[in-house]
Formats: sequence, C-alpha cells, structure tokens
Amino acid sequence: VDATRWPGIFRRGRDFFTVNADPGHRVYGEDLVREGETEYRRWDPWRSKLAALLVLGGIPAEIPAARKLLYLGGAHGTTVSHLADLLPEGRLHVVEKSPASFAPLLHLSERRANVFPLLADAQLPERYRARVGQVDFLYQDVAQRNQGGIFAENARAALQPGGRGLLMLKVRSVTQSRPVRSVVAETRAELARHGLEVVGSRELAPFSREHWALSVRFNAGDAHRSASGSGGPGM
Ligand SMILES: C[S@@+](CC[C@H](N)C(=O)[O-])C[C@H]1O[C@@H](n2cnc3c(N)ncnc32)[C@H](O)[C@@H]1O
Repeated sequence: VDATRWPGIFRRGRDFFTVNADPGHRVYGEDLVREGETEYRRWDPWRSKLAALLVLGGIPAEIPAARKLLYLGGAHGTTVSHLADLLPEGRLHVVEKSPASFAPLLHLSERRANVFPLLADAQLPERYRARVGQVDFLYQDVAQRNQGGIFAENARAALQPGGRGLLMLKVRSVTQSRPVRSVVAETRAELARHGLEVVGSRELAPFSREHWALSVRFNAGDAHRSASGSGGPGM
C-alpha cells in the first residue's frame, strides 16, 4: 500500500484506501487490508461518488486538509466513514433527512468521535446552522430537484468565504427531459449567481451514470454578479 498526493489516502494497484480509524470493523462490507500495525479500508468507487472521483482523476486537495466539513445527504455513512478516517482531527457534521438512514449514521458516530449526525432537511439550513457554525468544506449528495439551490443556501449559511465544496449533481433528479450538459450548465450558472465559482467538473461515469462532480469555490463577495467565467476540467 503506497501513499498518494492526498494525505491519508493510499493506493495499491487500481484500489484506493483510507486507514481504518475503527480497526476490525467494516462499515459497508468493504475489504480490510493489514500491513504491519496499520489496517486499511478499501474505498469502493461503485459505492462512493467521492471514491469514483478519486479513481477518475482526483479529489480537491482541500478535502484532506479540511478542519470542519458539512456533509449533506449522509445516507448510511459509506462516504462519511472514509472522510472520518481521513480527518482524524476534523469535525464532520452530517445532515440526513431519512430516519431509516439516520440509524446506521448514528451508530457510525458512536464509533467515531469526529462524526456529528443531524436528522434534518438540507433545504432548511437555518434549523442547524447554529449547531454547525462555519465550515471550510461543503459536500452535497442529495437526489433533489433543486440541488443547486440547496447547495447555495447551505454555503450562505455555513461556508466560510474562500471555502471550498463539492456538489455531486444527480442530473436526472433535476429533470428527466433536458440534455445532461444543459442541466450541468444551468447548475453552474445558478451557483455563480450565489458567488459559487465552479473551478472543476467531471462526469462520474461509469461508476455513477448521469452524475457530475462540481468542484466549487465560495467567493462570498461575488454573489449576484453575472454567471460568467469558466472552470477548467481539473479539480
Ligand atoms: C445518494 S444518497 C447519499 C449517499 C452518500 N452520500 C454516500 O456516498 O455514502 C442520498 C441521500 O440524501 C438524502 N436526502 C435526500 N434529500 C435530502 C434532504 N433534503 N435533506 C437531507 N438529506 C436528504 C437521502 O435520504 C439519501 O440518504
């Protein structure tokens, strides 16, 4: 298992790993690999869009450096668990609205001191902004029609100026009919109206079909300026 350019992320062949902060325990049936004193958990790109992005070219360097991260749409905690491995000194505030998904998330938080789950609707950040405070990274993976609007509202509520984020955009939750690229372009424009500049974008196929990762920087003073400017293909 070799180090990568992302602190806390390791690689063997085509597989990526994080160091298991809860040795001996699996979260979603992932492979565990032991080398010396260290146990690694394989990060499955078919189960985690963040791992897919890693395999397809890389994740923003700000993720392993984050001190406080707000995660919208935690589900059962698959991706959250790897972020928790990655950020032993960080705090992960995780919003999930489904009580059925919240139970495993709560269980995960009982085993990992840096995970703080919130049973809440990401469309109503005013309900949890006081609890979360200001974060330096915003991650969103919710299959909702107004994904751009939810991301913008949460950035306004909790993301520090200059902070970074990742929007895992599920195009078919926005519309069933319009072409994928026009939905991605509209979402970029909507984010730009709120001071959120897309600095990189990538399709997540073949791992997640019709999903795009939009890497974002929050230029808080730019809100409501025109949606001009272009983001490169990188992250
Ligand atoms: C695709 S799953 C997330 C998978 C997870 N991010 C992972 O990689 O392990 C989407 C989750 O978003 C949750 N969700 C959908 N709308 C939401 C909302 N408005 N507020 C909070 N959670 C929401 C769903 O209940 C579901 O658990």
